[in-house]
Amino acid sequence: MKSALIILALSFIATFSNAQKKVLPVTNVTTGKEIYAKHCMTCHQVDGVGAQNMIPPLIKTDYVLGDKKRLIKIILNGLKGDLDVNGDMYSGEMPSQALLKDDEIAAALTYVRKSFGNSASAVTIKDVRRVRAANKTISK
Ligand code: HEC
Repeated sequence: MKSALIILALSFIATFSNAQKKVLPVTNVTTGKEIYAKHCMTCHQVDGVGAQNMIPPLIKTDYVLGDKKRLIKIILNGLKGDLDVNGDMYSGEMPSQALLKDDEIAAALTYVRKSFGNSASAVTIKDVRRVRAANKTISK
């Protein structure tokens, strides 16, 4: 009887800690790096240099270091049309990355804002959630 209770208690703990794991935010630089590698790197390159005249860099640009809301919107909506990045003009098209989850976007953007010589504050899951919610009422 006693051991049955212990097993019951242990399985509760296991279930509970699994549930905890699922809701834990992934926002840290390591995970952000992985998401960047999977979803951004093919275009913006491993060290954020981009590709001349085609893909803008992510190094000390206004878009990366500036307003977080604008930065999050670029990920959710993509970006198209003439763009001045650090004095160079680009007129390509970035596809929307809206399929990424809020925590994945937060992690990727935090990684970008703290890598490649950048030093800016983290982007939180809450930031992304807020912009995504506001975004929906405008575009859909
Ligand atoms: C298919 C290629 C592609 C992918 C994938 C991509 N981008 Fe872009 N990105 C672009 C292009 C092209 C532009 C410029 C668009 C324009 O000229 O209007 C851009 C612009 C940007 C800008 C604004 C300009 C700047 O350089 O500061 C940011 C920030 C950015 N991308 C971040 C990201 C992040 C973060 C990811 C991954 C979540 C990502 N991009 C994925 C192609 C891509």
